[in-house]
Amino acid sequence: MDTHVTPGLDVAAIRADFPILSETIRGKPFTFLDSGASAQKPRQVIQAMVRTMETRYANVHRGAYFMSEAATEAYEAARGAVARFINAGSEREIVFTKSSTEAINLVAHSYGRGVLTPGQAVVISELEHHANIVPWQMLRDAHGIELRVARITDAGELDMDDLAHKLADGKVGLVAVAHMSNVLGTVTPAERIAVMAHDAGAKVLFDGSQAAVHRRVDVQALEADFYVFTGHKLYGPTGIGVLYAKAALLEAMPPFLGGGDMIAEVTFERSVWAPIPAKFEAGTPPIVEAVGLHAAIDYVTAVGMNAIEAHERALVDRAMARLPHIEGVTLLGRAQDRGGVFAFAIDTAHAHDVATLLDRAGIAVRSGRHCAEPLHARFGVDSTCRASFGLYTTPDEVDLLAEAVRQAREFFR
Ligand code: ALA
Repeated sequence: MDTHVTPGLDVAAIRADFPILSETIRGKPFTFLDSGASAQKPRQVIQAMVRTMETRYANVHRGAYFMSEAATEAYEAARGAVARFINAGSEREIVFTKSSTEAINLVAHSYGRGVLTPGQAVVISELEHHANIVPWQMLRDAHGIELRVARITDAGELDMDDLAHKLADGKVGLVAVAHMSNVLGTVTPAERIAVMAHDAGAKVLFDGSQAAVHRRVDVQALEADFYVFTGHKLYGPTGIGVLYAKAALLEAMPPFLGGGDMIAEVTFERSVWAPIPAKFEAGTPPIVEAVGLHAAIDYVTAVGMNAIEAHERALVDRAMARLPHIEGVTLLGRAQDRGGVFAFAIDTAHAHDVATLLDRAGIAVRSGRHCAEPLHARFGVDSTCRASFGLYTTPDEVDLLAEAVRQAREFFR
């Protein structure tokens, strides 16, 4: 796919690929610092999706005619692109879902009820997004699984001693933790976590919704048993998520949803499941979205995940050199290893008021608890503003944010 992007990170060229970035907000340039919630889309993604709908659209896996075969080929090519993107051992290990949330629910429902046994435990951490908390609470309540929460330090890093403690009795069947916090930007030591989980006889799931956007992920090097991420934060469309799982685990797991496409044979008495990954893809899948995700993966791959990580790290360093020095501003967490996301609070104003004032300057940040209420409770704060960077974020935008935050503190003093 032609992405019109040269290797390295030419932010001006990248920004030219994202039509929405040239919009103005009340006469001000649109400063979009909410990519962590949902990233903007490059023209290459938009056009790939439009092209599919205009020229190569039909349902997949169902038609013995040209258009259906072409759509099936494009859908399965997307699966191949995802497998290469995260270095999965096989395309059979890639299941398309609606979202990361659905992918975690799939594991909680299918692996949780089908493979884990009552009395076993699942370990999550205080860093988690609600999507990696609530499904496990539902599993706990329905299936007699114990839910343990590993602590984090004041710096916002996973407390590895506490994790070891939570694993010590050998009852843990699964460790499910964020690879990168959607609030603090903390990147967790995934390789170490996987070794600790495996040594304790547990499987490991990483919620990579944020991490997969900000750095290169290699599921085999991480020894991840499950890894989930979503299309819309990766400059792709909404409506598509990814579950990576080792083939042997998918083989052992019962289906999550039943319906067309996930069966090999159906009678009124019984059904026989289709081979993986189809066993987990009931119903018409996100066909156009898969094409969009493929284009998004091609895009970030052409830019280079290492270049994206370095770019965002430099932006965070710049923000950390400015925001904590503004009177009345507190940053949440100070992790050593972090991606392009951070949360802050102003002593004299509610986060929503700060965000509203920033919006007047054309700056979009998320305010509230960012689907991480327990994490906010852990830090004793009601709400925060969160800035999250993308590959199109510029150093000038970081400076603009810092200046607008300084002015907001003045205003609310
Ligand atoms: N999970 C998304 C966020 O962190 C919506 O904002």
